[in-house]
Order: sequence, then structure tokens, then C-alpha cells
Amino acid sequence: MRAETIATYPIAGALGAEVSGIDLARPLSNPETEAIRQALWNHKVIFFRSQSLSPKGLLRVAGIFGGIYRVPFVRARDDFPDIIDIVKEAEDDNKYNFGGVWHSDATFEACPPMGSVLYCLESPPHGGDTLFVNMEAAYAALSDVMKTTLDGMVALHSAERNYGSGGYFTDDKKQGVSMSIEPSAEGDKLMEHPVVRTHPETCNKGLFINPIYTMRFKGMPTQESQPILNFLYNHAVRPEFQCRFGWTTGALAIWDNRCTMHFSINDYAGYRRHMNRVTIAGDRPR
Ligand SMILES: [Fe+2]
Repeated sequence: MRAETIATYPIAGALGAEVSGIDLARPLSNPETEAIRQALWNHKVIFFRSQSLSPKGLLRVAGIFGGIYRVPFVRARDDFPDIIDIVKEAEDDNKYNFGGVWHSDATFEACPPMGSVLYCLESPPHGGDTLFVNMEAAYAALSDVMKTTLDGMVALHSAERNYGSGGYFTDDKKQGVSMSIEPSAEGDKLMEHPVVRTHPETCNKGLFINPIYTMRFKGMPTQESQPILNFLYNHAVRPEFQCRFGWTTGALAIWDNRCTMHFSINDYAGYRRHMNRVTIAGDRPR
């Protein structure tokens, strides 16, 4: 199949497009690979339906964009250590929900992931959608004074709230029955990133903060930082900056973690949802 058969259909005004005309299980030609990369730069999150991918096929799709990032704190598949199982069994009820707060993945790292590939092995009959927001659109809609102020600021990120020594998952009651999350003191470390990040492919500026991992601004205590962060989070997740994807078994999403946040909706108690995720290595935010 040639790259000309690939078509993209935006699903919202701000970001997100479904890509048709490609079977990701086959070896891809260079033009096809380039078309997929361009689609991601253009739309920030892209979706493919009805794919039939082995774990190796899933790793090959992630390889289109770079090396693999091995996710800390979350136990990976025994057979494929670069793939994490994201599973909520019917009996897990609403006990936990992996990804159920707005966030970008692993921004506590010096080089946070470039993106992720998420593949649906089993979708609930309804619910379990994922929301995404365009952090470049959110930045662009701020006042010039706010943009200038934020441009020079640095934020401190940490895995502390979730995976640190006193984090959410240290409470056994918060652990799901179906995933193994292993908090540690490693999660308490702080990492500095610019509040406004320039995308290395498009040179667009976007907000690079998120409610799970951003702790405060550098040089500002929490009580000064938090009201500004709260304003920015509320601003960034306005509906016009969002798209929403309803999963079907065999659907696959690739998101650009440098210019988006995502949120997994927990509205399918009593049903099983099973995903596999491969995370793509990224570079130092600038
Ligand atoms: Fe995530």
C-alpha cells in the first residue's frame, strides 16, 4: 500500500485525527512512515481503528518515532518489559483508574517521553474514553503579559504525589487488583523544566506543566505557585482545547507527550478494559 492511500480525518477543532488506509501490522514503507510522523506533528494525537498487532508489531509502531522509554514504578509485562499492561478488571469496580487525572507522561524525568502508543485489546461496551488537550492552543490563548511572564519561568516536577515514598499508591487500598504499581523514594526527586516548551519538530510554543507531576514554580513557594498553576490547568482543559476518543477493540492511539495532556475517564465499573502501552523516549525540554 502506498502513502497516498493514507487519509487523516480531524475529530475536533483543537487536536486529534483518525488515520485510515494503513495496516500497521505490515512492514511500512518510508513514505508511509513519514506520513504517520507528519500526521502526528499536525494533529498531536492520531488514532487508528481495527488494527491487529502483536506485541512486536506494537513495539515496531513505537519505533517509527524513536527509541523506547521503560516506564518506572509500574510493573511491565513479564514477556515484553517495554510494554505495560493497563488493565481494569470488572471486579476492580471504581477502586482505581490509571491515568485518571490530567497529565503528561513521566515529566518527572530529565528527558520525559516524546510520546506513547496505546493499543486497545479489549474495550468496555461503553465508557473508558480518553480525553486529550492541546497545550499549544492553551498557551496561544493566554494574554501577552501572561505569556511573557511564563516564558522565563521554570517548574519543578516530581513523581512524589503518585509514586513517591508517601505517594498515592503507597496505600494498599489504592492499588488495583490487576496492575502492580511500585512506589519508592526514587519518586521523591525534583526535576526542572521550562514552563513554556518549544516543540523540536514544529517550533511551536506550548505549556509544559501538569497537575500530577508539577509541584511548583522554581523560586516560588507552593502557596504562591498553586493559584497560578490552578488557573493554567483550568484554562488548558477548556472544552475547545480538547478532543475525546472512544475506544474500540483494535484501536490504537499515538500521542505527542510534549504538547498535550491526557485523561482517562473512569465510567465503566463492572466491565473489563485492557490496553497495552509502549512509551517513546524523548529529549530534554527547551
Ligand atoms: Fe498517561
